Amino acid sequence: MQSSSQSPDRSKVLTSTMAQALSGNVKVPGDKSVSHRSLMFGALAVGRSTVEGLLEGEDVLRTAEAMRRLGAEVTRREDGVWELFGRGVGGLAEPEDVLDMGNAGTGARLLMGLVASHPFTTIFTGDASLRSRPMKRVSEPLSRMGAGFVGRSGGRLPMAVIGTGSPLPITYELPVPSAQVKSAVLLAGLNTPGITTVIEKEATRDHTELMLKGFGADLIVETIEGGAKAISLKGQPELKGRAIKVPADPSSAAFPVVAALLVPGSVITVIGVCTNPLRCGLFLSLQEMGADIRLVNARDDAGEPVADLEVRFSALKGVDIPAERAPSMIDEYPVLAVAAAFAQGTTRMRGLSELRVKESDRLAAVARGLEACDVKLEIEGDDLIVHGTGKAPKGGATIAVNLDHRIAMSFLVMGMASQEPVTVDDGTAMDTSFPGFARLMNGLGAKIG
Ligand code: S3P
Repeated sequence: MQSSSQSPDRSKVLTSTMAQALSGNVKVPGDKSVSHRSLMFGALAVGRSTVEGLLEGEDVLRTAEAMRRLGAEVTRREDGVWELFGRGVGGLAEPEDVLDMGNAGTGARLLMGLVASHPFTTIFTGDASLRSRPMKRVSEPLSRMGAGFVGRSGGRLPMAVIGTGSPLPITYELPVPSAQVKSAVLLAGLNTPGITTVIEKEATRDHTELMLKGFGADLIVETIEGGAKAISLKGQPELKGRAIKVPADPSSAAFPVVAALLVPGSVITVIGVCTNPLRCGLFLSLQEMGADIRLVNARDDAGEPVADLEVRFSALKGVDIPAERAPSMIDEYPVLAVAAAFAQGTTRMRGLSELRVKESDRLAAVARGLEACDVKLEIEGDDLIVHGTGKAPKGGATIAVNLDHRIAMSFLVMGMASQEPVTVDDGTAMDTSFPGFARLMNGLGAKIG
């Protein structure tokens, strides 16, 4: 048996001890949002699609398996490229068994939309985290399109989606800024005659729109009154198989980026990161805090902008982060809060209500974890206020991960620069989005084991 220091990514309990200066070039895994969508759209297209750089994390592998169970041919070639032969829009088949989506909120919600406009019943379940998350936000608009839902109290999984063979197109204004809800409605709209429209007041990540257009769908995005966006999709398009290149995930790049900013003397480059502006709120906020992050070698890679991120250790200062920025960095607040704990002065992160319904209640988890590391903070309404002293916090805590990959990675980053080591009670949760996290960070100079 290997010791945990030889294979940190196999260990449940992981401890991160003060790192040496980080240096090197790294590539983080493929973008989770783009990966899920590649598999779904490839499964609906006519002909062959290939996906290079797919994130082979637990969440995405669940979606791959779900697409197979819905009738698509999905294989991983020996060269690591994934190949799909789709069923055509409307051509999915009733799965023989329950679809277990594991920890994957994106997989579950988008697929609920997709099957809602197919004339069969699909039953979804997931792990304890996913079974606690609200699904009413998708079942409500999808019911308006004609689908039925039978689930547990509070609109939670397990839930049966009783798809309809005669779906109705709707115009739906998002009550919460959620790309998952937007995408669920648009995916149901794919097999719905007529025009399905989603209106969003606050712009959320637009990978669904960009990729659907790339596959040949007729989709229009207009700016309407008050600056809102109306996204209209003409139903029953013929999607054509295509080659997809998945850029590196900015939500995963966030961890080595923040680590390099916090560990004195660090200089690293993270290669080929998706720089879609609707995903880059963290990098902007860190730059406002005084971070030396440079986007170099900017290019367009199969429909998404990408760049290399050059990052140097920086003295950070507290800032006020507006609520409007939240959708563009929603998954990055835990690691931003860690950065704020090392900054000089107070950082106020506004409008974080959506953090309460992620893989765990991230607002509570971040507050508990930082307090255990001796960081001063308050929660005021939906705002998180972290008081940094400009010095390394004490650290020295054990953090309960509660099946939340980003909580695990954020606090391992905290341990890399705190005075005392930080331990997480379940490192395996990181496989959700970032397999090999500890190995990659140790390759840069971290001490995680
Ligand atoms: C995602 C959207 C976000 C994000 C999640 C991925 C997506 O969720 O937190 O990790 O791929 O659409 P919401 O849309 O619910 O905010």
